[in-house]
Amino acid sequence: MPSLFNRYLFPLGKSYALMAGAAVFALSVPLIAQQVPGRGLYSEVQAERGRQLYQSRCAPCHGASMGGGLAPPLTGTTFAAAWGGKPLSQLASKIRNTMPPDDSGKLTLPQVVDLVAHLLRADRIPAGTADLAYDEKILSTVILPGRRAVVLPPAGNLAQVMRGIMFPSSNMIFNVQTNDPGLPVAKGAVGQGASQSFSWVDWGAGIYKGWEIVDYAAIAVADSAPLMLTPGRRCENGRLVPVNRPDWIRFTQEMAQAGRAAYAAAQTRSQEAVSDSSNQLSDSCLHCHEVYRDKPGGTAADPSNKAARCQP
Ligand code: HEC
Ligand code: HEC
Repeated sequence: MPSLFNRYLFPLGKSYALMAGAAVFALSVPLIAQQVPGRGLYSEVQAERGRQLYQSRCAPCHGASMGGGLAPPLTGTTFAAAWGGKPLSQLASKIRNTMPPDDSGKLTLPQVVDLVAHLLRADRIPAGTADLAYDEKILSTVILPGRRAVVLPPAGNLAQVMRGIMFPSSNMIFNVQTNDPGLPVAKGAVGQGASQSFSWVDWGAGIYKGWEIVDYAAIAVADSAPLMLTPGRRCENGRLVPVNRPDWIRFTQEMAQAGRAAYAAAQTRSQEAVSDSSNQLSDSCLHCHEVYRDKPGGTAADPSNKAARCQP
C-alpha cells in the first residue's frame, strides 16, 4: 500500500503554525531533517517495540495491519484525513488518555511514544537514530501532514498569481476605505457595457452585490495564500519561489490571516470595520515585499531590481 502521508512531517515554529489548510501547505514543507538535523523523529528500534505492543494491545480493534475493523484505521487516507494538520501531541494524547478504551490497562508514556513511532513508520516517515520522547514541546511542533490525492503543477509564475489574484482582490478591500459597499449602485455605473475598455471589475459588478464582492475578495486573499507555497512555482526572474524558508511561510500565513480578518470584518457589514482590517492586509503584503520583492538597484528605467527578487 502506498504511503498515505507525505514522506515528511511538517515541523513548525509556534509563530507560523499553518493549521488552516495544512493538507495544502504540507506539500511544500521543509524536511524533518531540518528540524532535527541529521536524524528523524524516532528510531527503528522504538518503532519495532511499538509494533509489538500494537499487535497485543491495539490490533484486536484497529486491525492487524492497522486498516481498521471494530475501530477506525490508524493508517491510510481516512486516518490522514482525520489527523492531517494536527500536531503530533494531539495524537499522542488521544492514545495516552483514551486508548485502549477497554479495561486492559493504561499505557505508560514510553509505550505511548513507541506506538506513535510505529504509526509514523507505518506511514513511511523516515526513522532516525534517537527515540521520540514524550515531550509536549517537541510533539506540539510537529504537524501531521494530510495527503492530497492530486497535486497540480503551477500554471503561472508568482508575479502572475500576484497580479491575477492578490492585486485585484486586495484592491477591492482597500476600496472599502473610500466607498461604501452598502450603497446602491448608480444606474449605468457598472455592468457590461458601462465602460468602453475591457474591465474585470465592471464585468462582475452587475452580478454580485457590493458587500458580497468584498466577501469574495477577502476569501480570495485567504484561500489563495497556499498558492504561494506551491512547490515548483518560479518567480518572473526564473528563481524558484522560496517555499521552504520559515520567514516566507510566516509571511504567507500572515496574508492568509489578514484575508480571514477582512472576511470577518466584511461579515459585520461595517465599512469602518473593513477599513480598519485593510491595514492588516496591506501590512501583510508589505512585510513580505520588503524582504522578497522590493529590491533596490535596478536600471534607471526600472529602479526595482527584479533580478534580485525571491531571495532574502
Ligand atoms: C477495544 C477496542 C480498542 C482497542 C483495544 C484500541 N482502540 Fe483505539 N479506538 C477504538 C475506538 C472505538 C475508537 C473510535 C472512538 C474514539 O475515537 O475514541 C478508537 C480510536 C482511536 C484513535 C483515533 C482514530 C481516529 O481516526 O480518530 C487512535 C489514534 C487510537 N484509537 C489508537 C489506539 C491505540 C494506539 C491502541 C492500542 C494501545 C488502541 N487504539 C486500542 C477502539 C479501540
Ligand atoms: C510571501 C511573500 C509575499 C506576500 C505575502 C505578498 N507578496 Fe506580492 N510579491 C511577492 C514577490 C516575491 C513578488 C515578485 C514576484 C515575481 O517576481 O515573480 C510579488 C509581486 C507582487 C506584484 C507584482 C509586482 C510587479 O512587479 O508587477 C503585486 C501586484 C503584488 N505582489 C501584490 C501583492 C499583494 C496585494 C499582496 C497582499 C495581499 C501581496 N502581494 C502579498 C511576495 C509576496
